[in-house]
Amino acid sequence: MKKGAERKREQTGGERRASASSRTCVGGTCLEERRRTMEIIPLHPLFAAEVRGVDAAAPLPEAQRAALTAALDHYAVLVLRGQRLDDEKQIAFARLFGEPEMNIGIYRPASQRRLARPEMADVSNVTPAGEVQGRTDKRRMFNLGNMLWHTDSSFRKPSGCLSFLYAHAVPEQGGETEFADLRAAYDALEAPLKAEIEGLRAEHSIFHSRATLGFTEFSEEERAALPPVIQPLVRRHPGSGRKTLYLASHASHIIGWPVPEGRLLLHDLIAFATRREFVHVHRWQPGDLVIWDNRCTLHRGRPYPLEARRDLRRVTTIDPENLAEYHA
Ligand code: OGA
Ligand code: MN
Repeated sequence: MKKGAERKREQTGGERRASASSRTCVGGTCLEERRRTMEIIPLHPLFAAEVRGVDAAAPLPEAQRAALTAALDHYAVLVLRGQRLDDEKQIAFARLFGEPEMNIGIYRPASQRRLARPEMADVSNVTPAGEVQGRTDKRRMFNLGNMLWHTDSSFRKPSGCLSFLYAHAVPEQGGETEFADLRAAYDALEAPLKAEIEGLRAEHSIFHSRATLGFTEFSEEERAALPPVIQPLVRRHPGSGRKTLYLASHASHIIGWPVPEGRLLLHDLIAFATRREFVHVHRWQPGDLVIWDNRCTLHRGRPYPLEARRDLRRVTTIDPENLAEYHA
C-alpha cells in the first residue's frame, strides 16, 4: 500500500520511479538480496527521459531490463549517464534488447576498420590510426549524412529498431544530437493530412540521403549491396500502441506519386515533425549512453569544430517485425 502511495506522489511530482528487487550472484556466491532503484526523470514534455541507477556494464536484473523496455516504449529516448563501456560490453548490453545488425561497412572494409566488431557503427571522426579525420576524408563525408534528420537503417530490411550510442570522447562545443518524437508529430497533424497519408509508402535509400549532400561517389558493388527498400509512411509503434510517422532523409519519394510531389510531401512532413516543440537536444558527456527507438523518432547530429575529437560508437538492433524475413 505504502509503495503505491509513494509512487503516486512521485508521479505527480513529475518523476516516475520504477524499482526492482534482485538477487545478485558474484563468483557463484549469492550476495544479500538488495533492492535496486531505477529512477526515470523526464527530459522533455513529450518524450525522452534520463534513467539513473542502471549500470550497463554489470549484469542486468530482469526486472531492470523490463523496466527499461517499458520506459523506452513510453519515452522513446533514454539517457544513461556515467557509464563505463568497452565495445564488448556495449554490444552485450544492446543484445539484451534485441539482435544487433551488422554494420554496412561502406568505406570501411574489414582491413580498414577502426573497430573490430562488425556490430559496431563507427560514428566517430577518428581514423584507424587514431587521428582526427581530415576535412575531405571519405568516411567523414559519409558520416556528415548523420547531420540530416533520419532514423537508423530505414534503408535496410530488416530495418533499425533500437540504437545504443555511447560516447568515448566529445567536443567541448557543438556535436549535440537532436531527437524528434514522430508520434507526437503524427498526433499534431491536421485530420485531412492524416487521411491523405494513411497507407502511403516511401522508398528509402542511403544513397538518396548522401546524394542530397552532393555525395555520390559509390561503387556499383556498394550500391548493389544496399538496394532501396519500401517503408510505410505511417505505422503503429508497437511499444506504445500509438500511431507514428516513419520518416528519414533516406526517403526519396512516395510510391505511386510523381517524384517531385512525393518529395515535397516528405520535406514538409520532416519540417513539421522537427519543429522545436517536438525536439529534445542531447548535449554529450563522455560516458553517456543514449538509447532511442528508431521506429518512432528522428535524430540528427549537429556540427562541431573540425579539429575536435568526437568518438561515438553505435550498436543498433534489428526490427523484430522484420526478423523472420532476415533469417529466411
Ligand atoms: C547515429 C547518428 C548522430 C550524431 O549514430 O546514428 O546519427 O550526433 N549520430 O553523431
Ligand atoms: Mn543515426
